[in-house]
Amino acid sequence: MELNIKRLTEEEFSKFAKLIYDESGIYMKDSKITLLSNRLRKRLSALSLSEFSDYYSYLEKLTGDAKKKEYEELLDVVSTNETYFFRNERHFEALTDYCLPELAKIKKDRKLKIWSAACSTGEEPYTIAICVMEQMKLFHGWDIEIIATDIAPSVLEFAREGYYSGRRIEKVPPELLKKHFTIEDKEKGVYKINDDLKKMVNFYYLNFFKNPFPKNIDIIFCRNVMIYFDKVHQKELVANFYQSIYDLGYLFIGHSETLHSISEDFVYKKILEAPIYVPRPRS
Ligand SMILES: C[S@@+](CC[C@H](N)C(=O)[O-])C[C@H]1O[C@@H](n2cnc3c(N)ncnc32)[C@H](O)[C@@H]1O
Repeated sequence: MELNIKRLTEEEFSKFAKLIYDESGIYMKDSKITLLSNRLRKRLSALSLSEFSDYYSYLEKLTGDAKKKEYEELLDVVSTNETYFFRNERHFEALTDYCLPELAKIKKDRKLKIWSAACSTGEEPYTIAICVMEQMKLFHGWDIEIIATDIAPSVLEFAREGYYSGRRIEKVPPELLKKHFTIEDKEKGVYKINDDLKKMVNFYYLNFFKNPFPKNIDIIFCRNVMIYFDKVHQKELVANFYQSIYDLGYLFIGHSETLHSISEDFVYKKILEAPIYVPRPRS
């Protein structure tokens, strides 16, 4: 049902912005009032509510599983999920041609664990899986795990399905498209991820500021999400990554992000033209 819902008032915006910040670390400047109004409208429509204030009161009254579910829905509509295959392709060149061969050389336990933290609709972890697949000759008999997590349930559902088209797959080199995807709908240009690739990636719900992190990770990708957090949350996030990462591991962050004045636990390292961070040796 389409309802004619107005824009948030400044007071309503402040209340929602605080709630979203407290729940997810996502920091919304005052200039985001129209954006937030548009995104929240989806929840109001779904619940047949006509006022933002009614939705706020509804959220306040919820308890138990109903609260958990609606808060997940709220963060789902609020989050920005832009992504595509081979985004910042230099990262994937460095992953394929440097990081994976290095780890194959030094890891005696023959375990490879990669985490796509804030994976959105799955293009990032599946791109990682393609790179690992392309280097599979180095990892025969290894225990390989690619974990992909996000705060938005709908993107995780989309990712698990594994259908992609248009801009999302534009940067996949033709030979890799042919090798790792199957055409699902020729007219619409929809491709399905092949099952062997799909099986390599496990998708989970994880809110950086509410849930425990996976441990013993060799490579962490956390790209284009820190920009939504303030410094306090960026610091907390990166400190927790340091606890999760293998001593000789790699941390990939977005091209427009930096750890300057956020963390001294990681050292900047340019690898094959790609900006990457490595953990500082632990004393
Ligand atoms: C712009 S996408 C980045 C996708 C991918 N990493 C890339 O670079 O293409 C940002 C993702 O961060 C997720 N996100 C935002 N806040 C989060 C939080 N507190 N915990 C986990 N994920 C979060 C959003 O749901 C969204 O899917």
